[in-house]
Amino acid sequence: MKYEITITKTTEPKAKPTDESKLGFGKIFTDHMFIMDYNTEEGWHDARIVPFGPMPIHPASTVLHYGAEIFEGMKAYRTQNGDIALFRPTENIRRLNNSAERLCLPQLDEEGCLDILKTVVELEKDWVPHEDGTSLYIRPYMFGNDPHLGVHAVHNATFVVICSPVGAYYAEGIKPVKIAIESEDVRAVRGGTGYAKCGGNYAASLRAGKKAEEKGYTQVLWLDGVDRKYIEEVGSMNVMFKIAGKIITPALTGSVLPGITRKSCVELLRAWGYEVEERLFSIDELMEAAENGTLEEAWGTGTAAVVSPIGHLAYKDKTYTVSNDEIGALTQKLYDELTGIQWGKVEDTHGWCEVVCRG
Ligand code: COI
Repeated sequence: MKYEITITKTTEPKAKPTDESKLGFGKIFTDHMFIMDYNTEEGWHDARIVPFGPMPIHPASTVLHYGAEIFEGMKAYRTQNGDIALFRPTENIRRLNNSAERLCLPQLDEEGCLDILKTVVELEKDWVPHEDGTSLYIRPYMFGNDPHLGVHAVHNATFVVICSPVGAYYAEGIKPVKIAIESEDVRAVRGGTGYAKCGGNYAASLRAGKKAEEKGYTQVLWLDGVDRKYIEEVGSMNVMFKIAGKIITPALTGSVLPGITRKSCVELLRAWGYEVEERLFSIDELMEAAENGTLEEAWGTGTAAVVSPIGHLAYKDKTYTVSNDEIGALTQKLYDELTGIQWGKVEDTHGWCEVVCRG
């Protein structure tokens, strides 16, 4: 079922970035945005693309008080032959609906949501950057929007899609990042919202992230919220370790985000013949591997982060260098294969890319 979308084009198109090597992440926005409203009587209605700009919001709106917000991160790529393509968009839509279910926000029709994403991207196609390593980041998000202060499942919601031409998420680019393993704050617990992509998970991560940055680390690696024993994720990415030839990545226990890049990397690694263990993986095991030299590579995976090598790990008063602080061979191979598929340089044998418009 497709939503009926009205389009109001901007009369003041912005200048596009001229130097695509300086895009950074999420600082520049395109000319238009998508908005759609929901209430329990009418369902989703008034689907519209309008000029990008501020949205009025009721001062009592649920999202401002109780944080009822979920989002997705996905990218549109300009492929080698000039087509614009999305990467596994239906996976994002399904995850968005799973997040919505957790926060009692309304479901979106899968086909309708894909049509929204394609319509927005096609309209903004000239904003999809051209340089290697760049893409159009798409941020669909939904929030509870009841105009009163009672705490209950919402009756009104708003769904928005904004787009931003981006380069690398980390200032380091594809160079290894320094990660601090957090032993005090926790991001999520099983039974909570860890598996949902909701703003609250990220709000809970800010204090530890700030502390880590002040000590010169790029981000925090979270341990589980109960025993602070098992490795979970970095927050902006899932993590994987190559230990004595095997790949280990934390299992999706409910407090870890089910990353689409994570899933794609696991599928690629298995297809290449690697043994991939998705399981509870303790900090002690990781420390032991770092100390006895069997930790060969570590990397993060995420839409924004793509495949990001980890060069340093710090836990309590110990620090370890991974792969001589260089990108490991397997990390590089994964990065090349994944981005190769996304940018149309490597044959998409998995059927992961969905063309939005032909070049
Ligand atoms: C993504 O990888 O798209 C994310 O949402 C991570 C982060 C930028 C919040």
